[in-house]
Amino acid sequence: MSASTQLNPDPLAKLEPRTEPSAPRVFIKTYGCQMNERDSEAVAAQLQEKGYEIASSDRDADIILLNTCSVRDAAEQKAIGKMQNLIAQTRRERPNAVLGFMGCMAQSRGKDLIDQLPDLDLVVGTQKFHRVGDHLDQLLKSENRQPICDTEAEVGSESTIREHLFTGKSAAKAVTAFVSIMQGCNQYCSFCIVPYTRGKERSRPIEEIVDEVRGLVDQGVREVTLLGQIVTSYGKREIGSKNGLSAFTQLIEATHEVEGLERIRFTSPHPKGYQDDLIEAYGRLPKLCESAHLPLQSGSNSMLKKMKRGYTRERFLEIIHKLRQVRPDMGMTTDIIVGFPGETEEEFQETIDLCRKVEFDNAYVFKYSPRKGTPASEMPDPLPQELIEERHAILLNEINQIAKRKYEQFVGREVEVLVEGPSRRNPNRMMGRTRCHKIVVFEANERFRGQLMKMKIESAGAFTLYGNPAILNLD
Ligand code: SAH
Ligand code: F3S
Repeated sequence: MSASTQLNPDPLAKLEPRTEPSAPRVFIKTYGCQMNERDSEAVAAQLQEKGYEIASSDRDADIILLNTCSVRDAAEQKAIGKMQNLIAQTRRERPNAVLGFMGCMAQSRGKDLIDQLPDLDLVVGTQKFHRVGDHLDQLLKSENRQPICDTEAEVGSESTIREHLFTGKSAAKAVTAFVSIMQGCNQYCSFCIVPYTRGKERSRPIEEIVDEVRGLVDQGVREVTLLGQIVTSYGKREIGSKNGLSAFTQLIEATHEVEGLERIRFTSPHPKGYQDDLIEAYGRLPKLCESAHLPLQSGSNSMLKKMKRGYTRERFLEIIHKLRQVRPDMGMTTDIIVGFPGETEEEFQETIDLCRKVEFDNAYVFKYSPRKGTPASEMPDPLPQELIEERHAILLNEINQIAKRKYEQFVGREVEVLVEGPSRRNPNRMMGRTRCHKIVVFEANERFRGQLMKMKIESAGAFTLYGNPAILNLD
């Protein structure tokens, strides 16, 4: 409760000081991927609309929600450890605080979490993000609070991740935004828990997505990233192919029509979805940026088969070749898993070899983590942890060396940068990205936020380019 008499213009307030309940303050901490970031943003926006206030730290929040990730065990353990600390601290200082989990781990563990942590108030699964507000209302008004666990599937839930946070200080000038186009994945790669935590593929209609993009552009957004676990499978069942164009390519075309939008990106695609219609789209749709995050996982055919990825190293190389034929300056990043069960030295070397051939600009290298219920977790010949660590370090070193060369090649080139905001490391400078998704830091000011600037690259650091927009008058 806080006294709110100071700013109250009501003359009676002088005679009769009033106190008004302040809005409950919610802090949301996100673990894991861009999908989770987007889900958290939508929940925050929905709560704000309901009258909740978004807190920037857990220290003074009345409600603390952890949006969890299940992809690797380390992420789950981190979230559970954080919750244990919160229970120990927050319950002492603010016994009425509401503590909850949402997202993938909430979905897969459900009520078990409440059994394990009886102080927990809320567990909300991946198809119920839009119900968080109602559950919080109920918890806050209840005198005899009982924990709520809501993890059922819900038809139409893929269309509920649509609100954006536009009232925050920095968000008011958001230049780029993520737009969730689908939920779930049907691929069932043998190592991956996502199909179990996120459910079957469900796609939003094209018009609904385009409307959201239009709304974002009206608010000043210049670039959108279409988001999903396997975006190349977008609308396969709901929409289907038309005139040789997959539903996903149709969606990109429709998004391309939005006036005022400058750039389109997407993540994550699946290599098997890189058919010729999508590759060709890079050549004819100027807003579609020449960058691709194309998860490889392994460069060995026997591993790819065990992983149930649905392509070979030859097919992967063919896609890369075709993409570079259409856009020679294509930015290329990937995900790789080292230490999958049974991975031999030769198979690991095939991954290194493929990375050298493709010359990725960057790669996320993951140590294989067995996930309960996935086929890979029951495969024979698990690798000793030391070997996984060793291969991780070797591959990371290789990736860094390749990336260093790739970034240095930019020095002296002229690039187009979309100005996003102040650089995190040096707020006196601005940062933006090239079309091929490289971060560029340069001298400029807030006036240029949201603008496309041409500049020359003067030097390259670790995964950052430094530009000089001297051709423009900045005063
Ligand atoms: N298409 C999704 C994939 C989600 S998981 C997306 O990009 O969002 C992200 C990455 O985590 C995968 O590409 C894979 O490289 C890695 N990953 C998934 N399951 C894993 C596991 N069991 N152990 C280690 N890494 C894993
Ligand atoms: Fe996971 Fe494979 Fe789908 S990595 S998200 S099951 S494409």
